[in-house]
Amino acid sequence: KSNAMWGGRFAAGPDAIMEAINASIDFDKRMARQDIEGSRAHAAMLAEQGIISSSDADAIREGLLTVLSEIEAGDFPFSRALEDIHMNVEARLKELVGEPAGRLHTGRSRNDQVATDFKLWTRDQYDAALAGLDALIAALLDQAEAGADWIMPGFTHLQTAQPVTWGHHMMAYVEMFARDRSRFSDARARMNESPLGAAALAGTSFPIDRDMTARALGFDRPAANSLDAVSDRDFALEFLSCASICATHLSRFAEELVIWSSAQFRFVTLSDRFSTGSSIMPQKKNPDAAELVRAKVGRINGALVGLLTVMKGLPLAYSKDMQEDKEQVFDAADSLMLALAAMTGMVGDMAANTDALRAAASSGFSTATDLADWLVRELGMPFRDAHHVTGALVKLAEDKGCDLPDLTLAEMHSVHGAITEAVFDVLGVDNSVASRTSYGGTAPDQVRAQIARWRSGA
Ligand code: ARG
Repeated sequence: KSNAMWGGRFAAGPDAIMEAINASIDFDKRMARQDIEGSRAHAAMLAEQGIISSSDADAIREGLLTVLSEIEAGDFPFSRALEDIHMNVEARLKELVGEPAGRLHTGRSRNDQVATDFKLWTRDQYDAALAGLDALIAALLDQAEAGADWIMPGFTHLQTAQPVTWGHHMMAYVEMFARDRSRFSDARARMNESPLGAAALAGTSFPIDRDMTARALGFDRPAANSLDAVSDRDFALEFLSCASICATHLSRFAEELVIWSSAQFRFVTLSDRFSTGSSIMPQKKNPDAAELVRAKVGRINGALVGLLTVMKGLPLAYSKDMQEDKEQVFDAADSLMLALAAMTGMVGDMAANTDALRAAASSGFSTATDLADWLVRELGMPFRDAHHVTGALVKLAEDKGCDLPDLTLAEMHSVHGAITEAVFDVLGVDNSVASRTSYGGTAPDQVRAQIARWRSGA
């Protein structure tokens, strides 16, 4: 049989393969609420403008609420023959209210309808990402505050570099996630224009009020060009870009948690709530949540590249290619929200092993830079010479199998005669971190100032 929506022009129905490749209902039913919200706003506007009667609009608006409650109750008979959420909802509305349902699509097309629905759906995900990032940042601030002066090794190349504080390390992630937050927030402000009323591509001859529907749907304004309004998927691409960068940050932190929770590092203990055991090795406690957070970036980046590739080279205006936008964004949004929540849970629960952190910070000649700086400050040496002298002292300590503070003054004199007893004051890790008072540095007072600035919302 031919189609109920456009059967006038068709003699035969679609091939089964056509239906299989064409139907989007299996995934776009996730936009049911947005579709109904958009249609209710459209119907109210049509009545307000005298394009349909207010009794028809009332019947449509009531009927759409019934459809929504049926869908939310989970017993709605979605049909692939009806292709997508838009036609599934409209067909059911027709069954419920009869003739007025046929007037809903006046001055509208599925092209502006789908753009509107998908924008509303994606806008909720922007908001969810912002809320998820707020929760994660709050958890990191708590960790930073608790450990503003806990000493741990800072690394470059994953080799011991200089001692830093736990709080400083946590605050580094606060900076990253706050930038992610600001990216989502910027993009959300840019995307909040209503496509509704662009119709198929050219606008409509009906006297619609696009400001009214834009306002009703929480948009800041109607999109200014109807061709652009139905063709634009920047709002989805920007969401995916923001999500990719955020997931990249999450994966870096997740990687650190995997390393830190290993028996070889023992920097942190992840809670049982965010770990799993092994089916064969009884001793195992695996950081699966951290590993999965580390991995989610793969599918999120995949979604970004996938949709960029779909959109590339598409001529204006709508092409069916664009139906491939939704699954990418759905999957990426699900992955991101889950990763944010899992990371927030892990950060809230994790216990730093301060002894192991401190011991690791005190090994690996981590205060060699402090020694070189001392030579510059106290003996007036050029830094390059001080670097050389310190290197020789490190070599000496390494040969002796000890660390820098364990060398005697006599041993130091074998490298440079002018070194005094006072040098030992700068070789300890506490002294090292306390001395890093430059703006943004690792000194506990600096870290507390960073925390206070974030807490005050400045
Ligand atoms: N299911 C379609 C999509 O997701 C809706 C828009 C269809 N428009 C059209 N002219 N075929 O993009």
